[in-house]
Amino acid sequence: MGKIVIEGEHRLEGTVRINGAKNAALPIMAACILLNGPSRIRGIPNIVDIQTQSEILKELGGEVKRLEDGAIEIIFRDGENLDKYTAPYDLVSTMRASICVLGPLLTKRHKAKVSYPGGCVIGERPIDLHIKGLRAMGAQIETTEGYILASADKLAGTEVSMKGKYGTTVLGTCNVMSAAVLAEGTTVIEDAACEPEVQDLANFLNKAGAKISGIGGNKLIIEGVRELHGVDYEIIPDRIEAGTYMIAGAITKGDITLENAKQEHLIAIINKLREIGVDITTTTNSIHVKNNGIYHPIDLTTMPYPGMPTDIQAQFMALLCTIEGKSIVTEKVFPDRFMHAAELRRMGADIMVEGSCAIIKGIPFLSGTNVMVSDLRAGAGLVLAGLVAKGTTHVHRIYHLDRGYERLVERLSSLGAAIQRMSE
Ligand code: UD1
Repeated sequence: MGKIVIEGEHRLEGTVRINGAKNAALPIMAACILLNGPSRIRGIPNIVDIQTQSEILKELGGEVKRLEDGAIEIIFRDGENLDKYTAPYDLVSTMRASICVLGPLLTKRHKAKVSYPGGCVIGERPIDLHIKGLRAMGAQIETTEGYILASADKLAGTEVSMKGKYGTTVLGTCNVMSAAVLAEGTTVIEDAACEPEVQDLANFLNKAGAKISGIGGNKLIIEGVRELHGVDYEIIPDRIEAGTYMIAGAITKGDITLENAKQEHLIAIINKLREIGVDITTTTNSIHVKNNGIYHPIDLTTMPYPGMPTDIQAQFMALLCTIEGKSIVTEKVFPDRFMHAAELRRMGADIMVEGSCAIIKGIPFLSGTNVMVSDLRAGAGLVLAGLVAKGTTHVHRIYHLDRGYERLVERLSSLGAAIQRMSE
């Protein structure tokens, strides 16, 4: 098992190119089950979650390979592998997002057996809304021996809401939309998640022959079609990776340019960084981040899109720990998602967590020490803290980071960070 070792207080400078979005790639790869013939998907990052999703698709009879130009080719063919409908525990347990094969399998192969995703350190991760949506379309679903067993001779269009007690569900919307594209009749998804990754899946499916309208809003209308064909598609840039590098620039008072970053997906993040006092300028495809004086504390609340993404909360918290004054972070998507607060405290941070709020009093400097990663984004927050801390930070359990950030150490290093990967 490896660790990341960072010697702090190095200012970052330079240019970094943002990869395609992990959270768009995962449901789009799953949606290839619906397609007849080869698809080429460009921009997919080389990270462990993508390897896991590839393994799951291979279990389901798909041909998946990385081409020389970096694109991933995925081939499913109509009428083949109908007896393969199981996403096994050993793969699903390492990545919750694999639940997004449920909708495609059910509508295409009329049967799906997907290991129940189970708990997660960022809090309760139920799938009741996924199940409710698919049942409303006519699926029979039961859970048995840790698996979700779903079947349907045919799925029929219906009206269904994807709203739960913490707002809409991203992967629930993806699952129901993916099932609806080949269902009989019209499906209306009310309270649909409108995250850019959901929009990307919808655009991908439309390119493959689906009829989805309302993309980008909270009401999706899906007219079922009889078949879908393979496509060539480029996925959107990863807004969370972009946000992480923007905060890396801000926390080190650096000067960084992000290429391949879509500013319209990053408005909440850009606005908050500007409120803090970070100087940000944008062009169509790039974002320039630099320090322009003094930073101010802020209040920040995570929300479904277009609000502040929960996946950037830990990274912001690291930054706020270093800004004099009191900041308040409220987590409205996963109210218990504060595992990183305890680790930041080990670095000297003054953070008090009360329910779904964290009150942060900025301190003059963080101190390097040993910290442990609990989940992907918490890990990103700890690495950012290490970049600015006095002394050396040892970040342990970095396999979480490998799930979602391609060549993080190399890319931060190329920006001037004193960072390396070492064996434990
Ligand atoms: C996706 C993202 C994840 C991000 C999250 C919220 C992927 C692969 N993962 O996860 O990185 O943090 O969106 O933006 O895209 N909920 C229910 N019932 C359900 C489903 C969810 O109550 O059936 C609740 C959850 O507990 C949570 C909230 O709804 O409080 C949002 O979760 P959801 O949008 O479903 O997250 P994911 O799609 O799993």
